[in-house]
Amino acid sequence: MLSMGRGPKLGVVGAGAVGTAVAYNAQIRGLAREIALFDINRSKVRAEVLDMAHGSQFTASRVIGGDDVEVLAGCDVVVVTAGAAQKPGETRLDLVNKNVAIMRSVLPQVIEQAPDAVIVLVTNPCDVLTAVAVEEFGVPSARLFSSGCVLDSSRLRWLVAEIARVSPTSVHAMVVGEHGDSEFPLWSSSRVGHTPLTEWTERGTRLFTPEILADMTQGVVRAAYTVIEGKGATNYAVGLAAGRIVQAVLRDEQTVLPVSRVLRAQELDPSLESLDGIALSLPTIVGAGGAERVVSPPMVEDERARLLRSGEALREVFETVRR
Ligand code: LAC
Repeated sequence: MLSMGRGPKLGVVGAGAVGTAVAYNAQIRGLAREIALFDINRSKVRAEVLDMAHGSQFTASRVIGGDDVEVLAGCDVVVVTAGAAQKPGETRLDLVNKNVAIMRSVLPQVIEQAPDAVIVLVTNPCDVLTAVAVEEFGVPSARLFSSGCVLDSSRLRWLVAEIARVSPTSVHAMVVGEHGDSEFPLWSSSRVGHTPLTEWTERGTRLFTPEILADMTQGVVRAAYTVIEGKGATNYAVGLAAGRIVQAVLRDEQTVLPVSRVLRAQELDPSLESLDGIALSLPTIVGAGGAERVVSPPMVEDERARLLRSGEALREVFETVRR
């Protein structure tokens, strides 16, 4: 349900590297009529809002914000980025205690200001935070989900596109599972154009050998660590990924994205029933209702086993923080 008046309103919680990338991405793409940035750091959030608002002449979005959560009133979508970021060598799961506490403090306030909003968690570990939030705050799982492996899938498509020398938009491949160390690409259903990835050739030679696939998998899993080691944080690509999700919601695109939503046994293949109650990324139809429907992909046995292992890794951490 879009806000009445002059177009949709997007909220962003957190004015750090990721939150400002999300807000700026939305501003330059005109994703929302109004973009509200909230952070408890008054001077920081006011400076970030000013710096974006000063460019208003060149965009279609009005940027507001501050340290009063009421700036989020009436948002149609809220992207939550508040929390500690990974430090070099730290895994996303290592952040769980700090960031679950921050989420438990912030999310009730967000829901009070924007009770009908679609909420997209970006804060890590986003899968565990999603499962905790859905269990504790009573928001339907379709309307409270995380960016999951949308960013990882974009990283994968870029790697494949560089080797195949095609546009990333012609690479049809997704990373699924945890947004983290146990994620993996669905190689068996990946395509370049209309060609199965493993059958893609150049001058008669198949480019995507098992070794290349293994290297790319590691490249995706290690991507954030590599960027963090070099610049201290990741922000641009995750800002673009979150913007892609916001666009799908606000335009009711019904597009399939690998977001992370709490899974229910009744929507899964019987062999995946142990994932019930866990949030992890699978292809999902995203539209005005949020993460509307999970569309389980065809998987070979090894992929199914990896997905279950990813779910187990997440459940282990989920059980340590759930109330
Ligand atoms: C990354 C962060 C957003 O993968 O988890 O860059």
